[in-house]
Amino acid sequence: MKNGFNTLAGIYDLLSRIALLGRIQKSQLDVLAHIGPANRALIVGGGTGVFLPKLLEKLPELKIDWIDSSDKMIANTKRRLTETQCKNIIFHSCDIADFHTDESYDLIISNFFLDCFMHEKLANIIKSLDDKLEVNGIWIVCDFKQCGLISKLYIKMMYLFFRAICGIQATHISDYFKSIEMLGYKEEEKLGYMNGFIQAEKFVKTEPG
Ligand SMILES: C[S@@+](CC[C@H](N)C(=O)[O-])C[C@H]1O[C@@H](n2cnc3c(N)ncnc32)[C@H](O)[C@@H]1O
Repeated sequence: MKNGFNTLAGIYDLLSRIALLGRIQKSQLDVLAHIGPANRALIVGGGTGVFLPKLLEKLPELKIDWIDSSDKMIANTKRRLTETQCKNIIFHSCDIADFHTDESYDLIISNFFLDCFMHEKLANIIKSLDDKLEVNGIWIVCDFKQCGLISKLYIKMMYLFFRAICGIQATHISDYFKSIEMLGYKEEEKLGYMNGFIQAEKFVKTEPG
């Protein structure tokens, strides 16, 4: 799906401000209040970086690997930042499957990203992110959670749109939050919007076994 979101990059912020009354953006900004000190972050599918200036205000020395397959989304993210803010960020314009590193991280952020995938691909992505996070590291996830008929209809329309315009693979959402918890993560914070249709969660990676 290389560059799938390029088509939408120019209007993505407007869309996500209008859709669901701005809660897509608000959830990502609100959850930042629950992030403590961190040194190295991996941020996947960061889009136009709506939360990045606020994250850098809070943690100005944070070193970031920022991955997004859309070079136009990355260009929009860079536009939000000063030169000084960019100094600790490496932007990787590539598919997450092609990102290889020996680094480990104490913070992972995957907002409205896991919903692009399903089945084996989703499981592989969650596993590879888990492998890169240190014990006691934080994983922030903002995403949709199906809860009732209206949300079901909304999700159906949303996937029709994103599959047609951006070529994403997914046709429905999965319970990303549960998948992460099942890896042994502890849910430390949970913010809900629109009767739980959007959730922002902070997970902590616990010692194995
Ligand atoms: C739905 S958007 C969410 C953007 C942002 N996180 C937000 O919430 O506003 C998904 C983002 O993930 C990126 N993306 C989708 N599939 C990807 C993949 N396989 N590898 C890397 N990035 C991907 C898209 O380019 C897009 O910027």
